Amino acid sequence: MNIAIVGATGNVGRKILEVLEKKKLSINELFLVASQRSAGQKLNFNGKEHEVFDLETFDFSKVKITFFAAGGKISEQYALKAAKHSIVIDNSSFYRMDPNVPLIVPHVNPEAIKNMKKNIISNPNCSTAQLVIVLKPLHDLFNIERIVVSTYQSVSGGGKAPMDELIAQTQMHLENYLHPENDLNKIKSKNFTKQIAFNAIPHIDVFADDGYTKEELKMSNETKKIFGERIKLTATCVRIPVMVSHAESVNIQFEKSFSLEKIRDALNKAKGCEVYDSRKDGGYSTPIEAEGRNQTYISRIREDKTNKNSLNLWIVSDNLLRGAALNAVEIAETLIKNNFNGKQ
Ligand SMILES: NC(=O)c1ccc[n+]([C@@H]2O[C@H](COP(=O)([O-])OP(=O)(O)OC[C@H]3O[C@@H](n4cnc5c(N)ncnc54)[C@H](OP(=O)(O)O)[C@@H]3O)[C@@H](O)[C@H]2O)c1
Repeated sequence: MNIAIVGATGNVGRKILEVLEKKKLSINELFLVASQRSAGQKLNFNGKEHEVFDLETFDFSKVKITFFAAGGKISEQYALKAAKHSIVIDNSSFYRMDPNVPLIVPHVNPEAIKNMKKNIISNPNCSTAQLVIVLKPLHDLFNIERIVVSTYQSVSGGGKAPMDELIAQTQMHLENYLHPENDLNKIKSKNFTKQIAFNAIPHIDVFADDGYTKEELKMSNETKKIFGERIKLTATCVRIPVMVSHAESVNIQFEKSFSLEKIRDALNKAKGCEVYDSRKDGGYSTPIEAEGRNQTYISRIREDKTNKNSLNLWIVSDNLLRGAALNAVEIAETLIKNNFNGKQ
C-alpha cells in the first residue's frame, strides 16, 4: 500500500504520521508532500527520514490512498487530480457537503463509504466528529430531536500559526501584567479577530448572512448529513486560549424518555467513547487531559429538568486526533477492510 500525505508538515499531517506509526499499517512507500517552502525538508517516520515533496510537481500515479490536510483551497485545486489514481481522504471542508462524497466517522457511519462516487471521502469538522461519536449510541436508543451545543475550541483547530501566536500573546500579556512600569507591549492579533491570550472569542470562521458563523453552520449541516435531515442542531462556537482539544457543552432533546443509567451504559459501551463522570471535585475531563488520547470523554451527565426528555453533557476530545488524524486513518482502515480499490 503506497500512501501520500499532502500537508505532511502541518499539525494534522504530522499527527497522521504519528497515528500511522502507532497503527502499524502495512505501508510500502510513504510520500510526504507540502508546499514549495518545505520541499526538501526531512521528516521522520518509523525511524527513517523521508523527504518532503513539492505538491505542484508531485506525481500521484504511484499512490493508493492520499490524505489531504492542507486546507480547502489546496483540496479544491488538487484532490480531483489525486483521485484519478488514489482514494483521497480529505480533512478540509471543501467536499464535505458534496452529495457524491461521503462524510465518514468510522465508529458512526462506516456504511456510507459505499456512496463514494469521486474517489474522495471527507473527514468531518473536528467539533462535529467528537460530537457525533457521542450522539450515535444515544440516537440509536432514544431518537434525538434537537441539540444545542456551545463549543470551547482550542487554537490548534486553526493550524500551526495560531498556536505560535497564542504563545507570543501570552508572553506579552504576562509581561504587561507583571511589569506595568515598562512600556506596554501592544498585542495585535494576526490569526484571531481579537486578543486570544486570557480571552474567549465567540467567532470561528467567517460570518454568514443570518449571523451564524461558518463553523456553527458546519456543525449543523454535517450532523444532518451523517444522521439525516430530521436532527436539528444549533451551535455557538467559541475559540479559547487552550492549545489542543475541544470541549463542548451539549443539551440533547430526545423523542423517547431515557434513564441516566441507560445513557451511561450506552456511552460506556460505545466505540471511541469513555465516560469520565464522578460528581466530585475533578471528576470530569478537561482539554489538557484529553490531549494525545484517542477516546472522546463524556462528563457532567445530568438530566435537564427544565425540558422533557432532555440531557446535559460535557464532551472533550483531542481535535487533532479524533477531529482529524485518527479519524482519517480509521477511514483508511475501513477502506482496506472493505477491499476498496479506488475504481469507480
Ligand atoms: N487542526 C484541526 O483540529 C483540524 C481538524 C479537522 C480538520 N482540519 C483541517 O485540516 C487541514 C490542515 O489543518 P492544519 O491544522 O494541519 O493546518 P497547518 O498546521 O497550518 O498545516 C497546513 C499544511 O498545509 C500545507 N500547505 C499550505 N499551503 C500549501 C500549498 N500551497 N501547497 C502544498 N501544501 C500547502 C503546509 O505546508 P508548509 O509547511 O509547506 O506550509 C502544511 O503542511 C485544514 O483543511 C483544516 O481545516 C484541521
